[in-house]
Amino acid sequence: MNRERDHVFYRNSKKSYPTAVRGEGIYIHDSTGKRYIDGSAGAAVVGIGHGVKEITDAMVLQAQKISFAHGSQFTSEASIELASRLVRLAPEGMTRVYFLSGGSEAVETSVKLARQYQVERGKTEKYKVISRWTSYHGNTLGALALSGHSGRRRLYLPLMLHTPHIAPPYCYRCPFGLQPETCSLECAADLERTILYEGPDSVSAFIAEPMVGATAAALIPRPGYYEKIREICDRYDVLFISDEVMTGMGRTGKNFGIDHWKVKPDMIVAAKGLSSGYTPMGAVIVKEEIHRAIQEGSGAFVHGHTYSQNPLSAAIGCAVVDYLIKHDLIGRSAQMGEYFLKALKSLERHNFVGDVRGKGLFAGIEFVKDKKTKEPFEPKLKLNALIGNRAFEKGLITYPGGGGADGIRGDHILLAPPFIISKEQIDELVGILDRTFTEVEKELAR
Ligand SMILES: Cc1ncc(COP(=O)(O)O)c(C=O)c1O
Repeated sequence: MNRERDHVFYRNSKKSYPTAVRGEGIYIHDSTGKRYIDGSAGAAVVGIGHGVKEITDAMVLQAQKISFAHGSQFTSEASIELASRLVRLAPEGMTRVYFLSGGSEAVETSVKLARQYQVERGKTEKYKVISRWTSYHGNTLGALALSGHSGRRRLYLPLMLHTPHIAPPYCYRCPFGLQPETCSLECAADLERTILYEGPDSVSAFIAEPMVGATAAALIPRPGYYEKIREICDRYDVLFISDEVMTGMGRTGKNFGIDHWKVKPDMIVAAKGLSSGYTPMGAVIVKEEIHRAIQEGSGAFVHGHTYSQNPLSAAIGCAVVDYLIKHDLIGRSAQMGEYFLKALKSLERHNFVGDVRGKGLFAGIEFVKDKKTKEPFEPKLKLNALIGNRAFEKGLITYPGGGGADGIRGDHILLAPPFIISKEQIDELVGILDRTFTEVEKELAR
């Protein structure tokens, strides 16, 4: 391809991107014939694998019938079907699904829905949404305001609403200096403290990723954490929104990440794996009570987008969910996840590997300068990018990130391959990481 004719505004204009031409299973092929293992499924997107024929068949079939009808004028068989599939996957009592075209849009929708729900029940002063530091909820201004990642927020701070953030459940770097075996879940108690400071009458919802993805690579709160969060939310009449954009649709080995705790959220935000990347798509799954408050109140959710309930996307979503179920890929994510985590743990022998963690096929590796003190590397080294680039050269795609330790410092990579990955392919993936780490360690020692 002649790059002089390339008018695409890329994320990074200094970077030269290979051209992706084909996807098949866990692999992406570029225009030079190079093959990459999609070790992070893009950004934890592709669950069922690339190039699945059943999905393209469903896509064509729906497009031949109807691709677009505006959600304010029509419903479609496809969206009715997909909503019922998602309700079956979601915890009991979550009975309605609002469709969107991506994760950030879905997060913003959940926040607006929380606000309208409170107003419909006469709690007109409730509007604040509390979130956590070391979190990511999207890049639109509302979702970014909730996100707790200093690097992504800094430039846009003057444009954003200030919203309260609490401490993350980051056991490897406990913000309270405690040990998970003996702590009293001070990180969950921080929610109660913050609700009280803000004024319970003003707080409408709390939003959290059940396991943190982009900003800290598979942070998994200890048992009891969400049970305590749920209790606090109930005590102060605050909705609990589980942002499952990364952790949903089987990624962690259960339908949704929150299913690992004995807790039901009030809303679930899903995207990425919902369509497995075959179309841009998001959804908010809500409990009956929230829908009923609007249905029996004003009757209309004051919200909507051009592509809400898009029939083509919904048909693709149906085909993806059917494929997940037919091939028991959620069970496979749980089972392969165990093998994956064990294989990744073998990398702990590298000096700069501080922590290896994960659930299902959602795993993270955190890098430290010193294993004992857990001191992070200097951000100017850009270690996460260096590791990501070296692995990419060797044909392995990872999702590098930083800022986990204090918003600025901290390096990690997120690994989240498609659920169809085999043991042999896991061995190959981990082998490439091993060689990459050896090479980078040598570079650091120079
Ligand atoms: C937990 C979480 N929420 C929301 C988003 C935003 O989704 P999108 O990029 O589709 O807008 C992301 C994206 O990575 C995410 O990981």
